[in-house]
This record gives sequence, C-alpha cells and structure tokens, in this order.
Amino acid sequence: MKEQSIINADRCYRKAEEKAAAYFTSLLVQIEKQAYVPILTKDFQAWKPNHIHHRSILSLFVRGQRNSDKLGYHKYIQWLNHSGKLENYLDRSISYIYMRDLGKSLASSETQDRIQDVVKSLKNQVINDQGDSGQDFTMAGLYRWAQREGVESAVIWVIDKLRTVSTNIPSGMDVEHAQRKLIKTIAGVVMHEMEEMHTEIQVKERTKKLDRAIRLGFSYGLTYPFIDDLLDAAVLSKQEKEQYSDLIRTTLVSGSVPELGEWTGENASLIKFVHSELRDAFEYIKKHQPPETANSFFEQSYVFFHSQEVDRIKQLSNQNYTNEEIYIPIILKSSCSRLIARSVISASEDEGFQDRTFYYGIYNQLADDFADMFNDLEVGAVTPFTYYLKYHHVRPDLINPFELYWAVITHLIHDVYQSDMKTCEVILDRAINGLKRFKERVGIEEYNQVMKLFTVNMSTFNRIVQKLVRKADDVDFFDKLIRDHFLAILKNDRKEKQEFKNQVKSIRKEINSILYIPETDSSSTMNDPIIDAANYSLKGDGKRLRPIVTWVMGVKAYQLDRSAIIPLLKSLEYMHTASLILDDLPSQDNASIRRGRPTLHEVYNIAIAELTSVFLTQKATSEQASLDFDSKTVLRLIEYSSKMTAEMCKGQALDLESKGKQLTLEQLNLMCFYKTGLGFEAALIMPAILGQVEQAEMNALKKFAYHAGVAFQIKDDLLDVEGNASMLGKQIGKDAENNSSTFVSILGHEGAKKEMWEHFCLATESLEDVQNHCPFLNHFLSYMIHRNY
Ligand code: IPE
Ligand code: IPE
Ligand code: MG
Ligand code: MG
Ligand code: MG
Repeated sequence: MKEQSIINADRCYRKAEEKAAAYFTSLLVQIEKQAYVPILTKDFQAWKPNHIHHRSILSLFVRGQRNSDKLGYHKYIQWLNHSGKLENYLDRSISYIYMRDLGKSLASSETQDRIQDVVKSLKNQVINDQGDSGQDFTMAGLYRWAQREGVESAVIWVIDKLRTVSTNIPSGMDVEHAQRKLIKTIAGVVMHEMEEMHTEIQVKERTKKLDRAIRLGFSYGLTYPFIDDLLDAAVLSKQEKEQYSDLIRTTLVSGSVPELGEWTGENASLIKFVHSELRDAFEYIKKHQPPETANSFFEQSYVFFHSQEVDRIKQLSNQNYTNEEIYIPIILKSSCSRLIARSVISASEDEGFQDRTFYYGIYNQLADDFADMFNDLEVGAVTPFTYYLKYHHVRPDLINPFELYWAVITHLIHDVYQSDMKTCEVILDRAINGLKRFKERVGIEEYNQVMKLFTVNMSTFNRIVQKLVRKADDVDFFDKLIRDHFLAILKNDRKEKQEFKNQVKSIRKEINSILYIPETDSSSTMNDPIIDAANYSLKGDGKRLRPIVTWVMGVKAYQLDRSAIIPLLKSLEYMHTASLILDDLPSQDNASIRRGRPTLHEVYNIAIAELTSVFLTQKATSEQASLDFDSKTVLRLIEYSSKMTAEMCKGQALDLESKGKQLTLEQLNLMCFYKTGLGFEAALIMPAILGQVEQAEMNALKKFAYHAGVAFQIKDDLLDVEGNASMLGKQIGKDAENNSSTFVSILGHEGAKKEMWEHFCLATESLEDVQNHCPFLNHFLSYMIHRNY
C-alpha cells in the first residue's frame, strides 16, 4: 500500500534547487568578473595590521615555541594567556562558532554581548583547567556535568545508545567516524538549546530542555551513520541500497516509518537493527515537533536527504558533469544539515537566520573539501576539488572551486553580513588559518603545487594571500584546538583500551594455567573428592578479575617479580571461588548454574560444597604462607587476608538478612562493600603490602576499591535483570526470585544506574591520589560498568 504523502517532495526539492541555482548563478557572475579580487584585496589590506607583527630579535626570542601542535592543548592555552592573546583568541573562536553553528549575525549587539559573556566564562574555565584535574573529555567529567545540569538520565541513555550503535556498525564502516559525528551533532544541538535559553530560566525548565536536546541530538545525529554513511559505504548491495533509500524516502514523504517487511538482501539483521533504531529516533523527533513546523521540517529533511542522494551517485570516472550538477546538491546538503540542527529543537529564528544559514553552507563545505582533497581523491569521492583536479585540463568550462571559495567569502562578508567588520575579521582569519594548516599538513612542495594549479587566474591576488599565509599571526581557532585535543585523547584511549584487552587476555590465560590443584597423595588409588570438587569449581569459566588486578598492580605498579607473586594470585581466586560456592548454596542464593556449569552442590552435594569452600579458603592461606617475601610482610598479608574473609562473611550475612527489607542507600552501600568491594580491595591491597607501599597510597587504593567494588556489584544487580544468562554463565532473575535487596530492587533500574555512575566517578576521582597509578585501573573501572558478563 502506498503511504499517504504529507509533503509534495518533488515540488519542495525543485523550489530548493531553484534557490540554490540562483545563488550559484550570482557566484558565477562574480567569478567571471573576478569581482572578489579588488574587494578582498582591500579587505586584506585592512585586516593586515592586526596580524603582521614586525618582531624585534628579542621578542622572537621571548616568544619561543608557540605552535599548538607541538605544545599541546594545555601548554598552548597557557602560552596564549601569558602573551596576552587568550581573550582575542577566544573572542575570534566564539564569534566564528556563533556565526557558523548558531547562524547568528555578528552585527547584532545582542549577539556581541552574548559572545562577550561566553568568552569571559570560557576564559576562566580554560585558565583554571590546566589538565591536572584529569577530567577533560573523560566519562567521569561528562557525568559530573550531567549531574550539575540534572540530566543524568539523558546522559546515561545516550552513552548506552552510543555503545549499542558502535557495536552494531558493520565492519565495512568506520566506527570511530560514526561516533565522532554523533557526538558532534549532539553537542551542536545541545549548544543550540543552551543558546535559546534565557538567563532567568527556571532550573526545572532548563533541565527538561537539555534532556530533550541530548535525545534529539542523538536522534538526528543517527541519520549520519545510518543513512548517509551507510548508503555511502560498500556494505549493502545495490538492490539493498535502493530498497533502503525507498524506505527513508517514504518515511520523509509520509511522515511515518513504514514496517520493514520482507528483507531479501544479505544484511537483514543489520537493517532490522538500523530500522528499529531509526524508527525510535524518528518518532522521538516527530513527537517534539510542534504541528505548525512539522511540515516544513519534513520538507527540509527531504531536501537534505535527496540532495545527498543526488550527490552520492556521482562517479569520479564520469567526465561530463556540468558545474550545476557538481555544485547545486552541495549547496543544498551543506545548508540543510545546519538548518535542521536548529529546527530539530524547533528553536526560534531571528530575522535572516534562514538566509544566512543557506548562504553559509557551501563556504564551510568548500573549506572542508579543500582540506580533504587528497583523501577524497584517494577514495574516488567527487567533490568540487577532486573533480577539478582530475578534469581541469580537459574541461576548460569547469569552475575553479578555489575561485568560487573566494567569491563565496566575498558574498558572505559584503552581501550576507553587510560588510560587518567583525565578520570580515573572523572569516579572513579562518581563511588564512585554513591555508596555513593545509600547508603544514601536506608540506611546502605539495602546497605550492596545489596553489599553482588553483590560482592560475588570480596570481596577483594569490601573492597577497601567500604572503599572509607566511607572515600573518593570530589566526588560529579554539574549535580546531579542541578538535585536535579530542582526537588525540580518543586515539590514546583506543590504544590503551587495546592494550588493556590484550593484557587481560594474556594474564587470564596465565592464571588459568596455575589454578589447578594437584592430588596430594599420588600413591593412593582413591581420588580426593574435595580436591576434585575444588578443581571442578575452579575450572569453570571465571573472569579471574581479582588476580588479574593483583598481577598488574604487583608487576607493573610495584615491580614485583612475576613468579614470586604466583601464590598470591592463586590465593585470591581460591578465596573468591570459595565465596561463590557458598553464595550458590540452597541456604543462600540457591543457584543452579555458575560459570556456565551446574553449581557444585548440584553436581556433588551440599556437604561436599561446604567442605570444598572451607578447603579453598585454607588453601588460599597456605599459598600466602608460601610467599617468598620477608616473613613479617607475609604475616601482615595473612592477617589482612583473614580479616577480609571474616568481613566478607559479614557482608553475605547482611545480604541474606536483608531479604524483602527496604534498606537505606547507606545500608545498601555498606552491604555491597562487605560482600563484594572487599574482594577487590584485597586484590589491590595485597600486592601493595608486598610492595611495601606507604599508608597514604593504601588509603587511596581502598577508596578506589570501595567505589569500584560497589559499582561492580550494581552492574551485577543490573545484569541479573537485563543480562543474558548464557553470556553471564549464571541464571538471571535470581535476585527477584530470592526477594533479595539489591540496588535495583531498592532504587529502581534508573536509580541503580545513576548510583553506579556516581560510584564510577568517585572511583575515577580517587585515582588522582594513587601515586602508582596506571591507565589499567581506569580501563578496568570502565570495563566494570560497561561489561555484559
Ligand atoms: C561474582 O563475581 C560475584 C560478585 C561479586 C557479583 P564475578 O562476576 O567476578 O564472578 P566470576 O569469578 O567471573 O565467575
Ligand atoms: C555475591 O553477590 C557476592 C559474593 C562475593 C559471593 P551475588 O549473589 O549478587 O553474586 P552472583 O550474582 O550470584 O554472582
Ligand atoms: Mg548473593
Ligand atoms: Mg548469588
Ligand atoms: Mg548477583
């Protein structure tokens, strides 16, 4: 059945095309007459005095190193501050963002005031944050922000969503690119929303709006990986792409997502996932569109989608595209993406917003395409620059995109922004900065070649420009610095995460190879049932988290000898396994599956299970006693370990007593610390005892263990509700069946998640006081709350 149309797709696309064509024609006239040359020459003359500094030898010396690439984020900000440049730098950057991302006119005094406020508060913020808080771009930093704004639920939701999306991105697509694009879109929409709010807004109202903006940002952002990138990638077959495109088209035209129906292609499960995620996103956006703007919103979205389609099917091997075919879809898609970022929150629009944004898009697009031309050429993407590079010698009629770029700049400064001085300043800063960055990246030779090719018709103007590229200062931007900083952090994080995974895998293997307990009396023909039973429990599929932590802290942080701590590793896993055997007994949680196999009391019997638990606890002590360290230290360790065992028993007793009771949060935390946190504490403290670390370090480790342990137990409680039994290797729903008091039963699902994040933050923050702190602990913590088993 054909869905009912709510918009006239062809007509609205044609209308948009006409507007883009008129714009394009006006630019062509400029290029033909080279009208931009005298205008920009004059603009640059006026611009120059603020950017060319004749330096004395001394100032050169004092200035020293000032390249953001080499200095890195924090030092660069410091340098800007000390040389008195920070305010200007931020002013230029914020002005640019207001113009580009928020579609504001810098000529408005209201916007100017607002920019000044933002610059002031940002200046304070960046001066105070010198990288020592360790919170820039961390999950803990993000969650702390969410708490300040009261949007924890939305942030937890979006973090979970981003993870689900990442794990479902097919291998033929770039996961990191998708993540970055989504984060950028969410940030953009949130920025729009913040900008929309009055300063007197009620806290409750602000929270509500921010919560909605985060979800809307994600919902809109999802269209980048799941529509544009998916159709760009070589994942779907040609026929699948057609079928999928139709689905999107029908959605936009009819205003509702059709059922997926039969999917004949190979990627049925991917499409099923994408369809369901996009449907939720679409419904959310639709629900938040006021009826009076809904239609224009769908029209805009349709133009966006269709212009991308038209742009996408172009092939670099085709010599015959007209200039209009190259440029019109680009004008449309680049402006629509920004228009939608605003209309998705149905924000008010000041006068001229639509036009400014419409004219602006291509400017930004050309700057990006210029910077990316070699990459694009490599993957065969058609952009104005790659197409010109490839065909300019056989197609003299092709527009030179670099000339078009200057024509667009002229048009923006003088027609769209009415020769506003600030606008002129910022756009020229950005233009020179773009060339400088490109030059640095591709190297001088390649740069000169590119310039030669693209500036044959404007050599005089180009000489002026190139001189500025060589000599002008104070043209860099905060958004670029942040982006580079963010990318560097992500890259490092990826590297560390991989190292963490490898480390866990190899240490787990090593631990698995030492746990087995040999029969004591090999002359006897009778097997020892307790040793058999212990080995049965040990051989199950345990994660070995406690001895893994001990291994890393012992070997990496305290430089203990690997083979010397083997008895300690064994003892930790023996104690933990003993506690699980008891925990599963009918008198306690009455569980029948553990570590992917029937529980010990099911395979043997209750008495054997009880005896095995006692045996393993004692075996742990005898392993500890065999440690080849100073005897006083070993005794200290054994004393600590016995205390821990006693307290863990207390924790289990508290757990069992609390069935059906309404515990307070405090009691709940305490119970979990005793039954679970202490096990992790022991894994950290015992190697620290052997490493003879100071008391202050011990205290910091204990604090970390407390919060990490409780976070781990909350995740365990959550998994008991929403986990997958076969992945977990244990039954789910046991807590409810036993009427146990857990974080979920007391705080509810949402509440438990928030509490888990709170402990995650506290654990992260406590690491600042751990001297021998290695990235492992951060990744371990992050694993604890994100794990699926
Ligand atoms: C389970 O611990 C008991 C809890 C403290 C929640 P693990 O989840 O570490 O269990 P194994 O050792 O991997 O089986
Ligand atoms: C167990 O907590 C804590 C122990 C240290 C034994 P749970 O009872 O929630 O552990 P699972 O879910 O059975 O593994
Ligand atoms: Mg239990
Ligand atoms: Mg249990
Ligand atoms: Mg549990």
